[in-house]
Amino acid sequence: MRRIAIFASGTGSNFQAIVDAIQKGNLQATIALLICDKPEAPVIEKAQKTNIPVFTFSPKEFASKAIFESIICEQLQEAKVDFIVLAGYMRLIGPTLLQAYPNKIINLHPSLLPAFPGKEAIKQAVQAGVKITGITIHYVDEGMDTGPIIAQEAVEISEDDTLFDVERKIHQVEHIFYPQTLQKLCLREYEEEYK
Ligand code: GRF
Repeated sequence: MRRIAIFASGTGSNFQAIVDAIQKGNLQATIALLICDKPEAPVIEKAQKTNIPVFTFSPKEFASKAIFESIICEQLQEAKVDFIVLAGYMRLIGPTLLQAYPNKIINLHPSLLPAFPGKEAIKQAVQAGVKITGITIHYVDEGMDTGPIIAQEAVEISEDDTLFDVERKIHQVEHIFYPQTLQKLCLREYEEEYK
């Protein structure tokens, strides 16, 4: 069974979707740890409800990203984590984590990359007037939403959709598609390891 750590900073609706997929048997993985950089984030309560261990920290309390990432690395190693799954983690991953987990860090972004990278991607798409946007699941590299693409799913924007409507549609697709893609990744890894 693959052991994943989820990194999140906010609501955690994708965190919850991953928990639900595991509970339904649709994702064969264990969430070994939630890493959260916002001690007040609602995602923490979601993890506590299902007894998932949580490591929270306040980046401001550390002199550098390298220092807090090396502490995170210790936590990940202790929890024997195979994959890092970013789900609304609002921070760039630094060299310390990238070197410790090469090609093992996965991100979910709410646009069809390379269009609309960075913050407020859904708003950017709506303001640009595009008719199709979507979600991207990709490996994380040192850039902002630039790593190799694993999977994408399109979402249509209708004439009368508000920003709220588009956000709702995107989140619905994320909640189905992220756990499904993680399952494929876990299986592929499994097959590669044991073939
Ligand atoms: C999602 O839209 C994801 O694509 C982006 O951050 C959002 C996180 O939402 N990276 P939630 O905290 O999972 O509800």
